[in-house]
Amino acid sequence: MARVTVEDCLAHEENRFALVVLAAQRTRQLMRGAQPLVPGKNKAAVMALREIADSKVHWHRNSQEVVQEWIDQQEGKLLGKLLRLASRKALRSTVDQALWVGSRAHYDDPVYYTKTYAQRLEDVAFYRTLAAQHRKELLEYGVGNGRLAVVMAQAGCRVVGIDWSRPMLDSLRATLDQARGEPWARRIELVEGDMREVRLSRRFSLILCTFNTFLHLYTRSDVESFLERVKEHLTPEGRFVFDISIPRAEDLARSPDRTYGVPRFRHPTTGQVVRYTERFDYDPVRQVLHVVMEFHPVRGGESWAVPLTHRQYFPQEIDALLHYNGFEVEEVLGDFEGPLGRYSDVGIWTTRLRRGRKTSASRKK
Ligand SMILES: C[S@@+](CC[C@H](N)C(=O)[O-])C[C@H]1O[C@@H](n2cnc3c(N)ncnc32)[C@H](O)[C@@H]1O
Repeated sequence: MARVTVEDCLAHEENRFALVVLAAQRTRQLMRGAQPLVPGKNKAAVMALREIADSKVHWHRNSQEVVQEWIDQQEGKLLGKLLRLASRKALRSTVDQALWVGSRAHYDDPVYYTKTYAQRLEDVAFYRTLAAQHRKELLEYGVGNGRLAVVMAQAGCRVVGIDWSRPMLDSLRATLDQARGEPWARRIELVEGDMREVRLSRRFSLILCTFNTFLHLYTRSDVESFLERVKEHLTPEGRFVFDISIPRAEDLARSPDRTYGVPRFRHPTTGQVVRYTERFDYDPVRQVLHVVMEFHPVRGGESWAVPLTHRQYFPQEIDALLHYNGFEVEEVLGDFEGPLGRYSDVGIWTTRLRRGRKTSASRKK
């Protein structure tokens, strides 16, 4: 192979700093026995440079660096101020910070969110049908920018939506504003707040927690607080329905050093053509999957990263959590069609208050 030059390598990396860090990291890995990704028997440092020149490895921030970077960018913004306040109160550890940021950052750009999930249609059809059968008031936790709320309102329901993301709610408010005059637009009511805390002093015969919103409940106490709120808002005969991604062993085993790319695309918010990669870093103790989404503008310019953290709940764990918090399971579907099975990516639980169990409503009577 011809000599590898710094210029060959720089063609694939953002800058010299990234190149030096990556070359050092990769050399260390090769010296410790990692399998080379290009053929040859050069010294580890040369093999590392050849891998970089061949675009086999890329420099990346680890998930904690991404979280810190995101917090730094918030300086001056309202969220930055909130975050500093929250840090003092509750975010004692870097783990807490990562969870907090990972449940916010992805929802800071509703335009990108809308484009990304435009083809996710199975859940839309499922919730549309559910709403068309219900045709009364319902409560949706994690309403976001209304991907589901709008179709449910169009199907005849009155939707009360709770979310803590100001950008997502503002995006939905803009949609409702544009649709002013349409009867369905008047059937959506929004409440900004934390789903573990908001109390509406009203009851609903259908409560939903849609599209992985439940995965932003990271600890048992998060789940217990949330399910307490659900119980306070559910009528005695009402249903609580939620859907979550089911963890797969092979997904959790992905190396955090490996990037998964998709073909380049035009970012709808910045207008830049970007190379997009994802990394997955699973914490098996907390059962949290840290996802780092990275955007690299192909015609130059700073790349940026967005963290997303999802708690991983196994089906039997969900069953136990529901049982010990006073719910009984009526049905568990997989992928919005048949029963939950070995190859299902998404699980949909339909639950109700456990029969014979005294609700806070009946206790008050
Ligand atoms: C994946 S999005 C789902 C949005 C919408 N339901 C959809 O299907 O497109 C999850 C939503 O949950 C919200 N969320 C996460 N944790 C929350 C919390 N503790 N309280 C309120 N909303 C929360 C996020 O802001 C985000 O809008």
